[in-house]
Amino acid sequence: MSAGAPPRPAGVDAELRARISALSEEGWEIWRRFDTEVRQNEWHPFVPADYEVVLDALIELRAPGLRFLEWGSATGVITIMADLLGFEAYGLELDGELVDVARGLAERYGSSAKFVAGSFIPSGYRYRPKGGDGRIGTIGDGASGYPALGHPLEDFDLVFGYPWHGEEPLMHDLMRAYGGRGARLLLHGGGTAGVRVFRDGKQVV
Ligand SMILES: C[S@@+](CC[C@H](N)C(=O)[O-])C[C@H]1O[C@@H](n2cnc3c(N)ncnc32)[C@H](O)[C@@H]1O
Repeated sequence: MSAGAPPRPAGVDAELRARISALSEEGWEIWRRFDTEVRQNEWHPFVPADYEVVLDALIELRAPGLRFLEWGSATGVITIMADLLGFEAYGLELDGELVDVARGLAERYGSSAKFVAGSFIPSGYRYRPKGGDGRIGTIGDGASGYPALGHPLEDFDLVFGYPWHGEEPLMHDLMRAYGGRGARLLLHGGGTAGVRVFRDGKQVV
């Protein structure tokens, strides 16, 4: 978790590089304000991923026709980056005010990323791990966002999450239960600096 330096997207043209750099910088600026104005007063689960690190991973993974979903998209920076890189990109976020921020950013950066206020947990899902501890940590409750998104979870080729400590197993379980065949789950955090990629429950990157 760091307010990083401007990104260095390789393999993208200069105009796109500049647009993504500006987006990332504005994202960090919004985060600094949010941290001061909101998180200093009450706890909130939004803490941004390292945008530059996630950007590098997205550049590696991009390919024509891939549909991308961010679980807990907050201010939308990562989903918008994915859209600008050519993914068909969607973000689900429980906090409606953050969704408004994300939509504003998307408009300013010429992105058609779609953001929906709702939960990334499909209706009817219950987390029942083998060990028996089904607490879901900081992951909030709310109506499923998939109907408004227009796609069930199984329609996505790539799903990105930045879980808090202990929340990864639920994300893997969700993919097992509802993910598309061959879909990849991208996880940031978890004690490593990069982005780990999982397919069918196995780490491939
Ligand atoms: C650790 S932050 C990650 C933010 C963003 N993905 C990033 O990497 O910069 C987790 C986000 O998930 C949101 N969230 C928590 N539970 C959710 C749920 N059930 N459905 C959708 N969003 C949720 C929080 O409001 C918060 O913005």
